[in-house]
Amino acid sequence: MPLLEKSKIESIPLKSRPRKSRGWLITSLCLITALTVAVVTLSVNVVMRSKEYQQQFSLQAQTLSDLQQQLAALQTQQQTDAARLEEQDKTIAAQQATLAERDKQIRDLQTQIALLEGQEALNKMILAQLSGNVTADSKLVALTFDDGPGPYTAQLLDAMKQRGIPGTFFVLGQKVDQYPALIQRMAAEGHVVGNHSYGHQNLKKLSPEGIRSEMDACSARIEQLIGHQPLVMRCPGGNYNDAVKAYAAEAKMPIIQWDVDTRDWESRDVNAILTTTFEGRYRVQDGSIVLMHDIYGTTLEASIQMMDRLLLEGYTFVTVPQLLALRGGIRSGEVYTAAYKMPAEGTPQ
Ligand code: NI
Repeated sequence: MPLLEKSKIESIPLKSRPRKSRGWLITSLCLITALTVAVVTLSVNVVMRSKEYQQQFSLQAQTLSDLQQQLAALQTQQQTDAARLEEQDKTIAAQQATLAERDKQIRDLQTQIALLEGQEALNKMILAQLSGNVTADSKLVALTFDDGPGPYTAQLLDAMKQRGIPGTFFVLGQKVDQYPALIQRMAAEGHVVGNHSYGHQNLKKLSPEGIRSEMDACSARIEQLIGHQPLVMRCPGGNYNDAVKAYAAEAKMPIIQWDVDTRDWESRDVNAILTTTFEGRYRVQDGSIVLMHDIYGTTLEASIQMMDRLLLEGYTFVTVPQLLALRGGIRSGEVYTAAYKMPAEGTPQ
């Protein structure tokens, strides 16, 4: 019997064992489910994250595109502005050029006006000079020109004629031979032709006969051309002594020196001549006799400027004999350097 029992036990179908297999299955199923859920959840997460990134990237791409467009627009605007500024610069430059041109025109006009105003004032004084209304109380000046005539004398005579200014020319006999027509013109235009010797020798070194010979040779030539003996004489270099004075008295001429020495022969400079005349220690004043030499171009230029300035300063121009006659008289053999006004006491200066 036991065998049978045993056999019975062994014949128990497997059905009696599944308790253990079912548990394993359930566990497996659970695991699979959990895994599946996990995978699905992860997948959904990944998909969602991916979408988020896509949206984010799309947004960034849009922003980038927008910014690029803005940059392009700004660059275009900048180019336009630069072109406009360049255009404005050109306009400003053109306007500045116009302004500069106008400034120059204004300055030119002001210069012209100043010149014309100066000329107008000068013209008035020239008219006064031409009217010839001269008295001892006039502000007088006598211009004298030595050592000529020369190549500039004709132009000097033109300038004096334009201004109605008479002068005194102390001519050399040897130059008279060269320019006889100018001597005649001087006399015809109201100038005085004075004797400055024949050959410009130092009269102090000559004998009385030598003095006479030198001086008479010049006087004879002058007389031949203008019809009378010269009224005044000036010694070469201003050198005289008693013998010269004796000759002058005999020849009925005063000896004319000067008070204003322009040093024109020395400087040969227009400004220096004018400075010496108007600002020097012995500057021009009422009654002055001014010494110049009409044989230099610089003297011609300076004398023209001098005449205009003297006119504007109210001077009346006279010849040396006129000056001396108006201011105390003229005597042969006497030496004159100027003819200042008599002081109130009546004593000649
Ligand atoms: Ni001289």
